[in-house]
Amino acid sequence: SDIEKGTYPYYMLKEIDEQPTVMRRIIQEYTDAIGDTMIDEKIVKKIIASDRIYVVACGTSYNAGWVGKALLEKMTNIPVEVHLSSEFGYNMPLLSEKPFFIFLSQSGETADSRQVLVQLNELGLPSLTLTNVAGSTLSREADYTLLLHAGPEIAVASTKAYTAQIAVLAVLAKAVGDSKKNQSSLKFDLAHELSVIAAVMETIIDEKMSISQLVEEYLSTTRNAFYIGRGVDYFVSMEASLKLKEISYIQAEGFAAGELKHGTIALIEEGTPVLGVITDRKTAAHTRGNLKEVESRGAHNFVISLGSLSKETDQLIIPDVHPLLTPLVSIIPTQLIAYFATLQRGYDVDKPRNLAKSVTVE
Ligand code: G6P
Repeated sequence: SDIEKGTYPYYMLKEIDEQPTVMRRIIQEYTDAIGDTMIDEKIVKKIIASDRIYVVACGTSYNAGWVGKALLEKMTNIPVEVHLSSEFGYNMPLLSEKPFFIFLSQSGETADSRQVLVQLNELGLPSLTLTNVAGSTLSREADYTLLLHAGPEIAVASTKAYTAQIAVLAVLAKAVGDSKKNQSSLKFDLAHELSVIAAVMETIIDEKMSISQLVEEYLSTTRNAFYIGRGVDYFVSMEASLKLKEISYIQAEGFAAGELKHGTIALIEEGTPVLGVITDRKTAAHTRGNLKEVESRGAHNFVISLGSLSKETDQLIIPDVHPLLTPLVSIIPTQLIAYFATLQRGYDVDKPRNLAKSVTVE
């Protein structure tokens, strides 16, 4: 069945491998034969009627929210804010006149997120939950639900739910953008681009043994590590470092590449691994500059780049995909990096210490 490990040593590896299938399932569930999106018109109308979207989530879902912000703003022209549930609930930001709320939650049971939704329901504000679990609390208590169709996620470290959240947010962004006759949305063939994504994910996953070797070389004994990037590459860096620290216990931080020099660069020592994520054409040269800065201070650089932006010295080169969707592929090597770093250190990949799959206390 779907939730057996089969020949896999760990659920996490199985769930990483399932991501191309999940992308294809999302295309099937949410787009029709001519590539139009299939999202409940009521949701689209509510979002168009709003003047601001608030994304509320925790952990990996929160990190997916930042990528979703980039997609939603580009395709819908509606401003988007991303908030941590545990902060939003007790320090509610000043809301716009017509807010719309999107909850991201793999489990649909996270208490921090639920306490926010309870407050919003008391205020009578509209909400949508993106979740992997039909009938979950956050699904029942929000006005609308979109399912992730990722299949059960068992490993504590979330992988396929992250990419599914981004893909479903892309579908939602296109549905709203198309309905607003937004040109960048209308000319975006999302169904096709997601099928390209699925194929590229497979290419990266097939290279997993070379990623294992790179991990041995760069991360086998280190105490800490940094991921850096700009724009969506920064958002991917946040998730990549969360994944790494959650299961391998390497103290990993994701930083905006340009911000490192304003403080955190003090932590760079001889041999500190710095992993650069470079998929954004506008900022590629700047991130390379930041990598040079840390290299001259002893950093052991590791670069994940997109084919057309790559240099021969880069460690990992990903085939090109649509510029709006690069996080869906650049995250894959970082999931495998976390997986292999954990294996090589001899820890339990699926059951990290101190963490639970779903946290039902505030
Ligand atoms: C827990 C898990 C994380 C997850 C977070 C949010 O802390 O360990 O992996 O990202 O909850 O979970 P949710 O189900 O709301 O996406």
